[in-house]
Amino acid sequence: MEIIKVKDYQDMSREACSLLVDTINKKPNSVLGLATGSTPEGLYQQLIKKYQQKEVSFQQAKTFNLDEYVGIASDDPNSYYYFMNEKLFNHIDIQKGNTHIPNGMAEDMDQECRDYEQLIRKAEHMDIQLLGLGLNGHIGFNEPGTPLTSRTHIVELDESTRMANARFFNTMNEVPKKAITMGIDTIMESKKIMLLVSGEKKAGAVKRLVDGDITEEFPASILQKHHDVTVIADEAALLEI
Ligand code: F6R
Repeated sequence: MEIIKVKDYQDMSREACSLLVDTINKKPNSVLGLATGSTPEGLYQQLIKKYQQKEVSFQQAKTFNLDEYVGIASDDPNSYYYFMNEKLFNHIDIQKGNTHIPNGMAEDMDQECRDYEQLIRKAEHMDIQLLGLGLNGHIGFNEPGTPLTSRTHIVELDESTRMANARFFNTMNEVPKKAITMGIDTIMESKKIMLLVSGEKKAGAVKRLVDGDITEEFPASILQKHHDVTVIADEAALLEI
């Protein structure tokens, strides 16, 4: 696991952007695994800038998002579908047909999980998977206790995760209780993984990610077994290392 230490959130976003841009420029039809949440927003802004400056094109790229809430329609501003379009896809030259986000409103959610796995397999897995880090060690929405062998599946969100995400909703009641997420094994099949982390409140989680035992109780710990992981972390997030 390579750890790149940067000063702050802005530097983390810039560093991540340059790694992604290099990946795409080397292989224009790269398959990118993407994340939502606060962590990658700065990176997406940087990518838009690089696209506007004609330093990168997404024409041939494909994307797969990690997860989506169950029961939130795609036109709801809290859906990850909406987030990705607003924060990135609407501002770059990616073909919308090449972007994939699990459908949290599918009639048959088990079938949706199987179909999503199938699409990822057909695309021959992610060239690079972007990850954020949950305070409880979740990656995607794989909460503590998720089997390390899991594929795309439906999860019950932890109360702590619902509370962490409540900032986007009017009331706690509106925060979804379920989500669809790529599994841990799905993530581990990515050729390269780039995990971004910023801020002091994640410092304990970073310590367990890097130094902790590999356990289902802290899903991100499995990344210690992946052959090509780059963690880009700011000084505050590395306070306990
Ligand atoms: C988002 C995702 C989550 C987040 C994690 C950190 O698609 O899969 O694992 O990366 O919850 O969220 P933020 O970045 O908001 O701290």
